[in-house]
Amino acid sequence: MVDRTRKQERQKNGGALLGEGAHGKAYNVGRTPRNTDALYKLLLKTPYKSISLQTLEQEKPVELTTAKDIHAFTEFLKETKNLIGKVVKAPQFWQKKSQQREFQDELDVNRMVLKAFGPQADRFLTTQPVQGFRDHAIIGFIGTPSDKKPLLYVIFGHKCNPSYKVELDRFVLDITEALVELESHRLRHNDIKPTNIVRCEDRYKLIDWGATTTDIPKRGGGVPMSSPMRYYVGGLSSYLARTFPYIGVEYEYNDWFNTNHYQDLFNRIDKEFLEILKVTSNRETLFKKYGPSSDLYQLGITVALLQYKEGLDDSKYTRIVERLTSLKEPFRSAKEALAWIRKTL
Ligand SMILES: Nc1ncnc2c1ncn2[C@@H]1O[C@H](COP(=O)(O)OP(=O)(O)O)[C@@H](O)[C@H]1O
Ligand SMILES: [Mg+2]
Repeated sequence: MVDRTRKQERQKNGGALLGEGAHGKAYNVGRTPRNTDALYKLLLKTPYKSISLQTLEQEKPVELTTAKDIHAFTEFLKETKNLIGKVVKAPQFWQKKSQQREFQDELDVNRMVLKAFGPQADRFLTTQPVQGFRDHAIIGFIGTPSDKKPLLYVIFGHKCNPSYKVELDRFVLDITEALVELESHRLRHNDIKPTNIVRCEDRYKLIDWGATTTDIPKRGGGVPMSSPMRYYVGGLSSYLARTFPYIGVEYEYNDWFNTNHYQDLFNRIDKEFLEILKVTSNRETLFKKYGPSSDLYQLGITVALLQYKEGLDDSKYTRIVERLTSLKEPFRSAKEALAWIRKTL
């Protein structure tokens, strides 16, 4: 991204903290070239009385309770390469959810998505079970400290680059291909935005499956990237549906919000939305028409945001944004979108 901060520079150079979202912080797990505070060091520093390994199969966790076993696991983590651990944060009190629940939910979703993708998992996901510690396929763990310190909730993933260079052609193609795969398993990501995408060796990949649903959701997911139609079919009044995503953008992407680039995009979508409501306001009818493209719409807004951030005003990207976020003529499926994008690029 254009405005690379010193923190991002340090991260790029192999620092410990790779990135942070609303629900978690991603750290290097094993030794890094500079050997800054990777996660294994935290395990060395804190006395733990037990570590509960979460495995790919939903069976009971594997409990490590002796100092010897915990030490062996820490040594194993120290030698892992390209592994990140997302440390799940305690939810805000208004979310009415325990940290344990938050962690379990995310693990369950990761298991579900991994299973659905099957042989395609490596190609599209950063989620990966860690092999090599005894016979387990480990997807995360809970550390319980000996003293009154808080529990440590960690979810593993393959390390990619979160402060990636944007090659927009590749970016759009890779993510649309992932959406085709998702759609074939009747899954929706629901939270597509630049910080939920990373660049891996071979392709751009979606991360953060925290908002994933089976089949098409009527609401929820990332507010600034979602369409007014989504909130309307979800039950909001047309007035609220029109202002909700707009407020989200103002809050999260304030610099973009204040530009003509965003205002033009917003005005076009808003106008289309109102024209459609004049023809029909039946929520079920509209849901059938707009539900299937909800992830594509979010991708469209994501591309628009990156276009602005990276100063990429090539008209082919503008056409892609217009088509992905079109309410007049929404794609019926990711497959249809992919074919159209391939022709357009
Ligand atoms: N596999 C990964 N490789 C590199 N960075 C990652 C990876 N997974 C997460 N991150 C970084 O951590 C941040 C938070 O992770 P994410 O799963 O999006 O958590 P949250 O649910 O808090 O948004 C991401 O925005 C990204 O910067
Ligand atoms: Mg995220």
